[in-house]
Amino acid sequence: MNEQIIILDFGSQYTQVIARRIRECQVYSTILPYDTPAAEIAAMKPTGIILSGGPSSVFDEEAPLPDPDLFRLKVPMLGICYGLQVLAQALKGKVEQGLKREYGKGTLSIKDKTSALFRGLPARMQVWNSHSDKLTRLPRGFKAVAVTENSDFAAVEDSKRHRYGLQFHPEVVHTPKGKKIIENFVHRICECGRHWTMRSYLEQAVEEIRATVGENKVILGLSGGVDSSVAAALIQQAIGDQLTCIFVNNGLLRAREEDAVREVFRDHFKMRLRYEAATNVFLNRLKGITNPERKRKIIGKAFIEVFKKATNKVGKAKFLAQGTLYPDVIESIPIAGNPAALIKSHHNVGGLPKNMKFELLEPLKCLFKDEVRLLGLELGLPKAMVYRHPFPGPGLAVRILGEVNRERIRILKEADAIVLEEMKASGWYYKVWQAFAVLLPVKSVGVMGDERTYEYTIAVRVVDSKDGMTADWVKLPYDVLEKMSNRIINEVKGANRVCLDISSKPPATIEWE
Ligand code: XMP
Repeated sequence: MNEQIIILDFGSQYTQVIARRIRECQVYSTILPYDTPAAEIAAMKPTGIILSGGPSSVFDEEAPLPDPDLFRLKVPMLGICYGLQVLAQALKGKVEQGLKREYGKGTLSIKDKTSALFRGLPARMQVWNSHSDKLTRLPRGFKAVAVTENSDFAAVEDSKRHRYGLQFHPEVVHTPKGKKIIENFVHRICECGRHWTMRSYLEQAVEEIRATVGENKVILGLSGGVDSSVAAALIQQAIGDQLTCIFVNNGLLRAREEDAVREVFRDHFKMRLRYEAATNVFLNRLKGITNPERKRKIIGKAFIEVFKKATNKVGKAKFLAQGTLYPDVIESIPIAGNPAALIKSHHNVGGLPKNMKFELLEPLKCLFKDEVRLLGLELGLPKAMVYRHPFPGPGLAVRILGEVNRERIRILKEADAIVLEEMKASGWYYKVWQAFAVLLPVKSVGVMGDERTYEYTIAVRVVDSKDGMTADWVKLPYDVLEKMSNRIINEVKGANRVCLDISSKPPATIEWE
């Protein structure tokens, strides 16, 4: 796994997508800031380098530019969009300021069928453009290998020196055959093999964890979510009983969650698991609290206290393990116009206090979410755990509007379990980002048999999303909704009405509080 492609990030919102596409080709990829010194890059011995796109123009005063020595490296390079302009300008080609932005679909015609970038691709194909500056004269040694309606230099190359450039974005879905172009770059031009698999990662990660941890102990806060579960299974595979997991039952979990976690980790994996029954602590502090932010803060603080106490009982541990993922650690480039810069994880209530004296062990921090899932399967975690929906740290408290109490928790748990059961039974569960029930603290009149009822309303929220940052409500078939509604009203004592949330994010959020 020594091969890797380095992606220099010039602030494109698609930089992470490029990294993922490369990993889909079973080649490891790393994202670095655009101005990383060339010597540092050389020391990492990349097999190839990609210059990402970006919102800037090379004519901007503050245009992000790489270390000029970068182009001395004898490593294959591919510039995409802004990256092409940077490459072309550095190699003494000519870029001109465009008067109007070329944005959207275009048709690429390949002029030079010998180009390695386009091997195995049709002579014409759809591509996605988003740029205003244009390359107007090629650097010495370059030739144009493909054109679009608006550009004679849509794809250019100097195959002798292994320099390539694309004016369009091969990484996005609107360039349907783009993945093949990326494959050609990594496999044909950079000559990478297919070594990046979760099996090989697992073997290497186990070795690394053993080497890092030595004879010491590790503590991990297990939430039952995908990331902490996979981290736990991985670390246990490496160091067995030197790992102790702490699972805090805050009383705000989904139905039967605590049993499921105990079954998988204690019974199946035979893991050392400390179960902290802390429902009273949490619910007492939440009494009378209705403000969403206060609820979140109270829960976050209580979690830290309970967790800290539990760690003291475990004994001296040197490491605290966390399921941090790659997108959390990529330095986002603060370039104006890059929406990715605004996309910061805003949650992480499960976050732990800075003053705890542990060294961090973060064995997933170079993985994307989909890779973590594959790793989970490789480790033998059940599919239901690996592909489960996200669940907020403050749990059901942010799905019970207004005050949280035991009765409301019971009602919501039961209703939520029905929503999830019906999603699974109808085959919809794994097609959506998230599905859950919300309890509204309003009562309305109903009739059950001969009796008048006056009970709570349940809202059903089912959304689709790529990363939780934006979301659409899912148009579930009426019969699925009908069954959910009938079951909730018939089976859940305390609820007599069901509504469907048909708001998208933005402007609504996924959770209700
Ligand atoms: P919102 O409600 O902000 O949620 O649209 C976006 C995604 O984040 C999840 N979420 C959380 N996850 N701790 C978490 O770990 C939290 O406090 C939290 N709040 C929301 C939410 O379920 C959705 O997937």
